[in-house]
Amino acid sequence: MNGREPGRLVRDEQLRHSAILGLGHYRASRVVPNAEIVEAIDSSDEWIQQRSGIIERRWATPSETVQMMSVAAARDALDDAGIEARQVDAVIVATISHLMQTPAVATAVAHELGTDRAAAFDISAACAGFCHGIALASDLVRAGSSTHVLVIGVERLSDITDPTDRGTAFIFADGAGAALVGPADEPGIGPVVWGSDGEAQDYIRQREDWRDVVAAGSTRIPHLTMQGNPVFRWAAFTMAKVAAETLERTGIKAEDLDLFVPHQANMRITDAMARAMNLPEHVRIARDIAHQGNASAASIPLALRQMVKDGEAHSGDLALLIAFGAGLAYAAQVVRVP
Ligand code: UT7
Repeated sequence: MNGREPGRLVRDEQLRHSAILGLGHYRASRVVPNAEIVEAIDSSDEWIQQRSGIIERRWATPSETVQMMSVAAARDALDDAGIEARQVDAVIVATISHLMQTPAVATAVAHELGTDRAAAFDISAACAGFCHGIALASDLVRAGSSTHVLVIGVERLSDITDPTDRGTAFIFADGAGAALVGPADEPGIGPVVWGSDGEAQDYIRQREDWRDVVAAGSTRIPHLTMQGNPVFRWAAFTMAKVAAETLERTGIKAEDLDLFVPHQANMRITDAMARAMNLPEHVRIARDIAHQGNASAASIPLALRQMVKDGEAHSGDLALLIAFGAGLAYAAQVVRVP
C-alpha cells in the first residue's frame, strides 16, 4: 500500500485561475491587392471593398509553411510572456490547412520550439479554432493538467482556395497567431460559449473527399467552397445572440468591454454584430481584415496582437473574442489582454 485510498484516482482538487500571458503573430509576407485577383473572378476592387472590407490580403510564399508560421507566431508569444519554450507543456494548433494528415503539425512545432516533450495535438474547428483552443487551454491550466499551453491558430488557405471561384478567391488568406496560456492570480479567461449547427454543414466545406479526388484520377488538392450569403445571414443573426450570452455568463455588460475582436470574416458582419450588441463608442473594434483578409483560425490572434502593437489595446483591457466558421462551429469568450 502507498498510503492512498485504494480505488480512488488522484486529482488536484483545487482549480486555479488561467490567463493569456503573451500574444504573438506572423503575417504571411506576400501582399496581394484586389487588383491582382479580380480578373480571374470577373470582379472589381470596388465590389470587394464594398462587400467585404478587404483592400488587400496576405498570401504565403512557398517557404512560409504552416509549421514555419506557427513557430514564428509561437516565439513571438513566448517572448511577449517572458516564458521559455522548455516551460511549455502543451501545444495546441488550430488549423484546417495543414495538408499532411498525420502526424499533427503541433508535434513538429513543439519539437522545433524546443519544448521538453510537450503534449501536442491539432484541432479542427475552422475559423472558430483559436477560440476553441483558448477554451481548452484555459481548462487544462485550471484543472492542473498543464501549466503553460501554447495555442496557435494558423492557416495557408491560399493552398485550398480556387483562384477562379468568385465566392471565395477574394476572401481567404494566410498567417498565424498565438497565445501563451498559463496560471494567474486573477481570472483572465472567462467561460466559453460554444456550439455547432451541423444542419448548415454544407455552407462551408471542402469540395470533395480525398478518396473522391483519387477515384477521379485528379492531382488537384480539394478546394474550399462557401455559400457566402447564407453564412453571412447566419453569422450576423446567431453571433449577436452568442455574444450576448457570453457577456451574461461572464457577468459583465457591453459597456465593461474595452475591445471587440470578432473573427475577421467580413467587415460588414463585424459592423452588423457591433450594431446588434449596441456596443458603446469607447469599445475599440478589430478591423484587421482590411489588409490581412480572412485568415480563419489565425484571424483573431493576428488582430488582437496588432491592436496591442498599435497601442489600441492595453494590458488589462477586457476583450470579447467571438469566432464562427465551417461546421458551422462557433466559440466566444471574454479575455483580459496580457
Ligand atoms: O470565415 C468563415 C466564415 N465566412 C464568412 O463569414 C463569409 C460570409 N459571407 C460573406 O462574407 C459574403 O457573403 C460575401 C462577401 C462572400 C459575398 O457578399 P454578399 O453580399 O453575400 O454577395 P452575394 O453572394 O449575395 O452576391 C451579390 C451579387 C450577386 O449578383 P446579383 O445576383 O445581385 O446580380 C453575385 O452574382 O454579387 C455578385 N457577386 C460578385 N460580383 C463581383 C458574387 N461574387 C462576386 C464577386 N465579384 N466576387
